[in-house]
Amino acid sequence: MAKSIAVLTSGGDAPGMNAAVRAVVRAGIYKGFKVVGVHRGYNGLLNNDVVEMNLRSVSDIINRGGTLLYTARSEEYNTPAGVKKAADFCRSLGVEGLVVIGGDGSFRGARDLSNAGIPCVGIPGTIDNDIACSEYTIGFDTAMNTAMEMVDKIRDTAQSHDRCSVVEVMGRRCGDIALETGIACGATSILVPEVPYEIEKDVISRIYEQKSTGKKHFIIVVAEGVGGVDDLAKYIEKRTGIETRATILGHVQRGGSPTLRDRLIATAMGVEAVELLEKGIGNRVIALKGNKVINYDITEALNMERKFDKHLYEVAMEVSI
Ligand code: F6P
Repeated sequence: MAKSIAVLTSGGDAPGMNAAVRAVVRAGIYKGFKVVGVHRGYNGLLNNDVVEMNLRSVSDIINRGGTLLYTARSEEYNTPAGVKKAADFCRSLGVEGLVVIGGDGSFRGARDLSNAGIPCVGIPGTIDNDIACSEYTIGFDTAMNTAMEMVDKIRDTAQSHDRCSVVEVMGRRCGDIALETGIACGATSILVPEVPYEIEKDVISRIYEQKSTGKKHFIIVVAEGVGGVDDLAKYIEKRTGIETRATILGHVQRGGSPTLRDRLIATAMGVEAVELLEKGIGNRVIALKGNKVINYDITEALNMERKFDKHLYEVAMEVSI
């Protein structure tokens, strides 16, 4: 009987997850594995919600957002009894390795399952780019391009009306989407949770300075981890007299066809994950470092501290004048 590996997507979906699933399925079959797709994250291991994949199960998905395996955040799995049940189910299927595509929470689940005897390999899949061990997470590029497109549209109307627009982008506690989108959209101010700010100095004064050189419309990009865009918009209007609107971009950033970068990195990471499982190596997380695909022990990866690119933030502030 062919050896089996399984693949699941867990946590918030991200464009490019499908490309990663495709790579795992194709590389797995290429190497002689039977590949099982698990539906709705770890829940599928608790509810026997699995399907055998073949080469054609993953046709025409490299270009699609979302995840064809569905995703979930499982409460039941996050208990010792849940992990044991999932491990027993994997053993009953003859699954000898599992690829988990998701974020930090999903990797904790992968570590627990590895400790319960099922070798797991995590692949960073989240739009937030908030996995400490990796310079890149699948979905980040697509989400930022979507956010950029949306802010460009908001700019059109802000310009027509001589308004200020305050735009909140996703990212949970990570300011990367805000930083890079803010730079790409020429935002007057970018507020991120990693950099302490004062509204007067970092928002109001910057608007006044730009206004004094003739600028009449303004974009302020705010990370979700800072939040409060409605109150900020009201405050800006009160302090400057400039009509101000707030927009929360929300889940639009999670959908859509993945960019080339997301498809490419997802494919490379998917293949690397299967190569580790083929060697019987589990309890690892795939990461991108200097454009190379590498891997770390999951516990080591979970203990790493994420570094925000302060230099890039300073660059943004320097050119937004
Ligand atoms: O982790 C991805 C993400 O989109 C975050 O940016 C955001 O904070 C969160 O998920 C939203 O979660 P939900 O889809 O449960 O509303």
